[in-house]
Amino acid sequence: MKTYSTAAALRAALNSGKRAGKTVAFVPTMGNLHEGHLRLVRRARQHADIVVVSIFVNPLQFGANEDLSNYPRTLAADKEKLFAEGAQFLFLPQVDEIYPEGMDSHCKVSVPELSNEHCGASRPGHFTGVATVVAKLLNIVQPDTAVFGEKDFQQLSVIRKMVRDLCMPIDVVGVATARADDGLALSSRNGYLNAEQRQIAPVLHKVLQECREAIACGFDSYCKLEQHAKTSLNQAGLEADYFSICDSRTLRPVTADTEEVVILAAAKLGTTRLIDNVTLNVN
Ligand code: PAJ
Repeated sequence: MKTYSTAAALRAALNSGKRAGKTVAFVPTMGNLHEGHLRLVRRARQHADIVVVSIFVNPLQFGANEDLSNYPRTLAADKEKLFAEGAQFLFLPQVDEIYPEGMDSHCKVSVPELSNEHCGASRPGHFTGVATVVAKLLNIVQPDTAVFGEKDFQQLSVIRKMVRDLCMPIDVVGVATARADDGLALSSRNGYLNAEQRQIAPVLHKVLQECREAIACGFDSYCKLEQHAKTSLNQAGLEADYFSICDSRTLRPVTADTEEVVILAAAKLGTTRLIDNVTLNVN
């Protein structure tokens, strides 16, 4: 596996493969890699000859009081995992490679229609930070395929719309959420949980599943379901941020035209913010 820290060097290395007709799949990450990330790498390998992974903890998507400074950084272990999965290229830029003139004056990409609710409501500017860095990374790598996790459902929606709206010739692939045996979605942030919090954390997925069951059984008072779910989360010791039953295409309330429902939720355990979602077909 070859590692590059500048866009120019990565592009030069990729160009010889591209000229030889090889296809490229790209997996952007912030590192501290776990099985969820590795699934994306495996899926990328199925789609293309060359797999590029980036590790970049993007300051632009962190709010002032968020965990940018203590975000887990485990580069040596990450490299071993990527090598074992057969990724050929690792892009590892420093902040000034991505934002050479700083972030404030930087051109930004926003997808307002999908960015202001749910996670966007409690993390203002977050999805603009995500869309901006993903647009830049996609322009640097110019892959045929880019792979993202469904665990971050709203993020995946924002990226799909950005790619569509900006006419990027890239196939965006979503991969199902990897979970621990007790249902907790794998996340780099799970490492912040103490033993007691780790016991409580799977309740988030359990409550999502219960809500999914209720809808599958025909219960359609969505407001009541959302309220009930938030109460269940709070009673279990989580602090519900939002619990939203939505149309998976629009991330807006369900309508008669909705084909797939997504239930999006975020909750805090101490200072750790967990997110998860489940989907179900309703037509
Ligand atoms: P990060 O949190 O490192 O996640 C990188 C990719 O892994 C994302 O597409 C995310 O959805 C996926 N992922 C994380 N946990 C997963 C799980 N349990 N199952 C399946 N996929 C999972 O998301 C980001 O980084 C950043 O916002 C990024 C897109 C890299 C832009 O900075």
